[in-house]
Amino acid sequence: MRIPLIAGNWKMNKSIEDARSFMQAVSDRLPEPAQIETAIAAPAILLETMLEMNSANHLRIGAENCYYEDSGAFTGETSPLALSEMGIPYVIVGHSERRSYFNETDDIINRKVHAVYRNHMTPILCCDETMGRLEAGEKIHWVVSQVTGALKDISDDLARQLVIAYEPSWAIGSGKSASADQAEEGCYLIRQTIADIYGDDVANQMRVLYGGSVNPDNISEIMAKPNIDGVLAGGASLDAKTFLQLVNYQK
Ligand code: PGA
Repeated sequence: MRIPLIAGNWKMNKSIEDARSFMQAVSDRLPEPAQIETAIAAPAILLETMLEMNSANHLRIGAENCYYEDSGAFTGETSPLALSEMGIPYVIVGHSERRSYFNETDDIINRKVHAVYRNHMTPILCCDETMGRLEAGEKIHWVVSQVTGALKDISDDLARQLVIAYEPSWAIGSGKSASADQAEEGCYLIRQTIADIYGDDVANQMRVLYGGSVNPDNISEIMAKPNIDGVLAGGASLDAKTFLQLVNYQK
C-alpha cells in the first residue's frame, strides 16, 4: 500500500515570522503520517524555525534543493550533510525552476539524487514536460529521459523509496492544472519507466505525485487516479487554511 503524500513547495516565499504563523496554524491539525503523509519543502533559511515549531511532529519538513557535495569551497550552496543532521527527511531535486533558471542538467540532478541518498534522506525528484514538447509529441521521450538520467547508478533498494513528481511546466504557477487524465497519463508513464529499469516490484512501491496548479477544487479528482499517490503544490501550500484543505481532500 502506497501512503498518500500531500506536499507543498514554498519556493522562495515567506519570512521567518510567516513560517512561524503557518506552523502555529497547521502543526496540531495534521493526520498521522501512517495514514496520510504531509510535507512542506521550505527555503533552507526557514527550516530550523519550522522544525522547532513542528510540535506534533506530523509534518515532514523538507528542503527545496541542496548541493551534490557534502562540504567544500562552494560558496552559497546548501550541504546535504547538514540538512540530514538537522533531521530533514525529503529534498526536492530537479524542479523545473532549478532546471531552467539555474541550468541544472540531468547529470547535476543525478549527482544530487546520489547526495541526498548518501545522507539518508529521500529525494522528491521532479520531472518536467513542456507544452511545446507535448504538442510536438515528444512528451514520452522527455519525461523518460529525465527519469533515467536522474537515476543513473541508483540501486533497486534506493529507487524503492523514491518519490517522483510529474510536473508539466506549463501547469506550474499558471493556474491551469493538467486535467486529471493528463496527470494520470504522466504518472503512469513514470511508473512504467521505473518498471522498465527496476521491475514491477519497485515500480509498485514507489510513489508518484502530480504537481502544477493543484488546489482544493481539483485535488480530489487528481487523487482518485490509480497512479497518482499525492501532490506537490506550490501556490496552494502557502496559506495554512488552503494547505489544510488539500490535506483533507474529499476521498
Ligand atoms: P504550483 O507549483 O502549484 O504553484 O503550480 C507547483 C510546483 O512548482 O511544484
